[in-house]
Amino acid sequence: MIARTRKSGPADDAEAARGQIAELREMIRHHDHLYYVLDQPEISDAEYDRLLHELTALEEHFPNLVTPDSPTQRVAGEPRPGFSEIEHTAPMLSLDSGAAEEAVRRFDARLRSALGEDAVAYVVEPKLDGLSVELVYEDGSLAWAATRGDSRVGEDVTANIRTIGSVPLKLRAGARPVPRRLSLRGEAIMLIAEFERLNARLTQEDKPVFANPRNAAAGSLRQLDPSITAARPLTFYAYELMTIEGPEPARQWEVLDALRDWGFKVTRHTTRARSIAEAIEIHHELERQRDDLEYEVDGVVIKLDDLSARETLGETAHHPRWAFAYKFEPRREVSEILDIVVQVGRTGKLTPVAMLRPVDVGGVTVSRASLHNREEVERKDVRVGDKVRIQRAGDVIPQVLERVGEPGKKRRPVFKMPTHCPSCGAPVVSHGPLDFCTNGLACPAQLKARVQHFASRDALDISGLGERTVEQLLATGLVGSVADLLSLTETDLLKLEGFAEVSAKNLVDAIQSAKEITLDRFLFALGIPEVGTQTARDLGQHFGTLDAFLAATHDELEAVPGIGPKVAEAVSDFLRSTATRKTIASLRKQGLKLIEAEAAGDGQFAGLTFVFTGALESITRGRAEELVRSLGGRTSSSISAKTDYVVVGSDPGSKYERARELGIKILSEKEFLRLLPKNAL
Ligand code: IVH
Repeated sequence: MIARTRKSGPADDAEAARGQIAELREMIRHHDHLYYVLDQPEISDAEYDRLLHELTALEEHFPNLVTPDSPTQRVAGEPRPGFSEIEHTAPMLSLDSGAAEEAVRRFDARLRSALGEDAVAYVVEPKLDGLSVELVYEDGSLAWAATRGDSRVGEDVTANIRTIGSVPLKLRAGARPVPRRLSLRGEAIMLIAEFERLNARLTQEDKPVFANPRNAAAGSLRQLDPSITAARPLTFYAYELMTIEGPEPARQWEVLDALRDWGFKVTRHTTRARSIAEAIEIHHELERQRDDLEYEVDGVVIKLDDLSARETLGETAHHPRWAFAYKFEPRREVSEILDIVVQVGRTGKLTPVAMLRPVDVGGVTVSRASLHNREEVERKDVRVGDKVRIQRAGDVIPQVLERVGEPGKKRRPVFKMPTHCPSCGAPVVSHGPLDFCTNGLACPAQLKARVQHFASRDALDISGLGERTVEQLLATGLVGSVADLLSLTETDLLKLEGFAEVSAKNLVDAIQSAKEITLDRFLFALGIPEVGTQTARDLGQHFGTLDAFLAATHDELEAVPGIGPKVAEAVSDFLRSTATRKTIASLRKQGLKLIEAEAAGDGQFAGLTFVFTGALESITRGRAEELVRSLGGRTSSSISAKTDYVVVGSDPGSKYERARELGIKILSEKEFLRLLPKNAL
């Protein structure tokens, strides 16, 4: 049933069209609000589509009447090369948080002592687990939207946010006046039901699934191609006012009402609490309901209701003093160890893995968990057949927390690390708590892990080379070393199950284009023990060419900024091995081409390490770091005795203190900018 009636008839002149367009927009907005915000649609999809088509047709006929806040303008635009940056109207702070009741009571005591006993009343909101976004409305229309970013500057996601149905493109005018300018904060999330539908669809399309709704929301919103965002079911909940030009609400409770009036979705789980005891009770109640909620919630946010008192309290560099995120306990469940299998990694390290009776831990099925190493298994004293408590902290990686005692039960024998590699049968040697297969790349498990690493995203980035293909390549003998990958032909691939002309050609093309690679990626790809992406970058930057790197002595390695004695040792062992030399020689023979840079020796910042802390004013931190690197310097996120300069922006964190303690040279943003060559910016 259509809720409102409407004049009809052809729009033969622009004036009549203008009236019809306005009316259609109003109706569509009304039905959007009923559908996306209130979850109470009043018309069928077909009727809704008819309205939208009618409006689209009119707008096509009178293109000069199209406005950005028209319901037709949610459609996704063209993909962009990158996100541009937007400065927030006010810093998007994070929240002070904790899972202990004690911490919540201390928070309350501070508020009462600063404001007086009677001034303190709270609003308790669910802490939604998604992506925090700022939305800005000018004269009632959505002007822009940005992710949190570094809290001062975020990514411009306006085009993506516009595709979310529960975000009004135009504020609803009603009982409450629409402010001239309004900026607010809320969370872009994926409802659990939508998340499950999306993953089911991805599985069907043979695409990787998301680990949890938060990752799905982030992956969907931070898309350069807004049509992908549009195809993903995101929901936006508003919860905080940032700036307003217009009548100012006095309390958070009123803010939430105003947000609802303006057309936003506000969660139905917000409650007022007169005391902290009530707030704590609400936390417990919501935690009990946690598994039945339509969205992922990881705690409650307890906020001071009185907005002028908030101003009295102010904020620290990181978080407001008037709010506290009271987290839920990490999810835990009990399961049983069905088996302990031992996996062999690319360095030959043996890892015991508990195979569990599958158990749902907060919406994710857990059927295995790493037990890390021999000592860890001993410490936890877990054996096959034991009941264990599983925890999934925040998201992804599940852990075996502890054994659940079962008095009187006869237990199975203690787990023993095998003396021979489960993959190739070669003897195993122990280094401290760790155990290694001694067979190097002659061990199929090591070779498989090595090949997978070599092709992985931060290495050669060969897309289309999945685990199953690698297994087939090794099993058929087509690949016996990482270098063999580079010489694969379409004819080779067609011998494998699951390959057809097109997929074979695509993979060969991907391999061919991966042959040209920067030095730092290549060093990472080699899988040198102890060398992750950052260390690979440090080494690449320092040595500039592969030959310079291959010629490095232990002392030279240790002198590289960012490299400690342990890493230097591992790298020089790796360099001395004949297997390494052989691998590199055959990779070169197969046409590997390195994109090499000038060694760091040349730039103005050669040999210097910079750390940035706090928000910069005239340049983003990412850009500043890039400049340092382009001038031959090195950037790091942590301060050590090897740091030469700390550049301090506004609201610096503890790094500033640490730099002062260590007597490291501190630069203001201005001083840093003065060091740069004139044309650098
Ligand atoms: S208020 C200045 N309210 O939690 C305080 N935040 O670590 C602004 N969050 O980044 C935040 N639900 O993404 C607020 N009801 C809620 C929230 C909420 C989720 C997120 C937000 C923030 C993080 C804090």
